[in-house]
Amino acid sequence: MDFLDKVKKAGRDLEKKLTLSTEDFAAFDTDVLDTLEKEHDEVKALLEQLVKSESGSARKALLKKIKLALVPHSRAEEKIVYNAVIAQKDKDAKIDGEEGYHEHALADKMLATLGKISTATSPEFSAGTKVLKELLDHHISEEERNIWKDVQKHFSADQRAEMNVQYLKEKKKVRVS
Ligand SMILES: [Fe+2]
Ligand SMILES: [Fe+2]
Repeated sequence: MDFLDKVKKAGRDLEKKLTLSTEDFAAFDTDVLDTLEKEHDEVKALLEQLVKSESGSARKALLKKIKLALVPHSRAEEKIVYNAVIAQKDKDAKIDGEEGYHEHALADKMLATLGKISTATSPEFSAGTKVLKELLDHHISEEERNIWKDVQKHFSADQRAEMNVQYLKEKKKVRVS
């Protein structure tokens, strides 16, 4: 066994001892804002597909995918990111966090409304998908501008990596009905 293999084996053994997966190890090294950005891009791509799709079954499948991606993201973001920002002695940061909560609530409501429309090819459903997309495009761009500025101002790179671990842990707890 050469030196590199020994190092690799030692790394794997340590990983097992700590009962952490490779994914968990990577989480310690990632800025929470990078994770959020990746997830935002995924949701934006799904919304783009949703407003363009014409078949009812494709629309329903996309709506389900968006809900599965968005709901855990929003709940974990509120708990780990917004609450941390709101806890600062910084009035603007508090308002940014509260604004995020309000916009998440509107997105949840729109998802529930769309879920109740049985005909996914109806004008009502089409209009709803446009509203959902506009709402989330606005929310995401504002969040990336304001909340991220607050997070960068109040938390160090190490703290943001720790927030990433907590964020991913929190996301796993969320059940989507
Ligand atoms: Fe977000
Ligand atoms: Fe958000």
